[in-house]
Parts: sequence; C-alpha cells; structure tokens
Amino acid sequence: MGISITFLGHAGFLLGDGTHTVAIDPFLTGNPVATMKPDEVKCQSIVLTHGHADHLGDTVAIAKANDATVFGAFEIVEYMGEQEIKGEPGNPGGKITADFGWVAFTQAVHSSSYDGRYMGMPCGAVVHMGGVTVYHLGDTGIFGDMKLLGEIYQPDIALVPTGDRFTMGPELATRAVEMIKPKVAVPMHFGTWPLLLPNATGFEPKGVEVKEMEPGETWQFS
Ligand code: NI
Ligand code: MN
Repeated sequence: MGISITFLGHAGFLLGDGTHTVAIDPFLTGNPVATMKPDEVKCQSIVLTHGHADHLGDTVAIAKANDATVFGAFEIVEYMGEQEIKGEPGNPGGKITADFGWVAFTQAVHSSSYDGRYMGMPCGAVVHMGGVTVYHLGDTGIFGDMKLLGEIYQPDIALVPTGDRFTMGPELATRAVEMIKPKVAVPMHFGTWPLLLPNATGFEPKGVEVKEMEPGETWQFS
C-alpha cells in the first residue's frame, strides 16, 4: 500500500496507487511553472477544491480526454454536467465513496467563482487512496477547526498553501499544520506569479516533515 505524488506546479497534484490516478486542481495551460501539458495527464478522476481558474484550470479538457469523473462542490459539478462531464457532487462535511477509496470535502476560508459564475463553497479536499490520506487544503486562510479536521481525518500528508495574499502565508501555514498534525506537509501556491511569495521560507511546522516539491517531481509515500 502506498501512493505516488506528482506536483503539477501551483496547487495541482497527481495521486496514484498503481491502478487509479486522481488529479487535484490540474491547472497547466497558462501556469508559468507547469512542466506537463494537459494531454499528458492520464487520470480516471479529478478533484477540484474550488472554481478559480488557477484550480479548475484544464479540468474540462482533461476530463473529456480521459472520460474522467470530476469530484467537486455541487455547483462545480453542475457546470461540468453542462459540458457533458461526469461528476460526483459534494460539499463540506460529506464523504464520497470512490472506486479508489474516498473523497471528503472540508471548509476553506476563501471564495469560489469561474468566469463570473458562482461555484459554490470553496473547499479543502481529503483524498484517501492506497491506504494513505491526503488533505489538500485548497486556497484558505487559517481557521481553528483545522485542529478538529486533523483529529477526524488524521491525514498522512497535507498539501498547504503558503504563498500569502490570497491564502495563508508561511507563518499562518506553519500554525495551521501544527493544528492538523500530518506526517508530511508540502507547501504550494507560492512562486507562481509575482503576487505570491517567491518561496516557502518560514514554513517550519514543529514535529512535521516539510517536503518541498519541484513542479514535475514525483515521490512515493507508504
Ligand atoms: Ni482561489
Ligand atoms: Mn488559487
């Protein structure tokens, strides 16, 4: 049991258990740090944290090319349905059983729209596959229930925005991870554009291994 984790750059990841591949927030076109093209992404499922273009990204093209199912907030899945893409709608607090394991959505303190259209609640996404639990925090500010979410889901890996301005910066992200208490924390959502911090300096949660990934990099967790 275990999974591979590939960083797509910005907030995008691929999780694989050898049978299934799940893409999270696959934003590649227009992503200055991306190393993969949308047509190189092979996956059966796509999980979206919210509708912003730097997260929804290439979902429509990738879903159509792979006949993939999109997991997301109700309004996002409604939008995907209009594009004839299969979906599994959810909302914070709920868990969705999937053929690779399950997906649960949490709250995120943020906003969610696409092309001026309301896209439901912004979310964090907890993905369980290959016996490993990954908590992608989405775009979010800090909130005290992160402690509770850590207790409930006991994530092995947290994917944590640290770029500041639109999300937590390194100081608040450090405190967030100290509440969630994963085994490993991966900083993300920094360095993509000048509006975000250029690096994750200062992201130093006590008692948690920090794994900084380069776009295109893959590592195994078991
Ligand atoms: Ni956003
Ligand atoms: Mn974002």
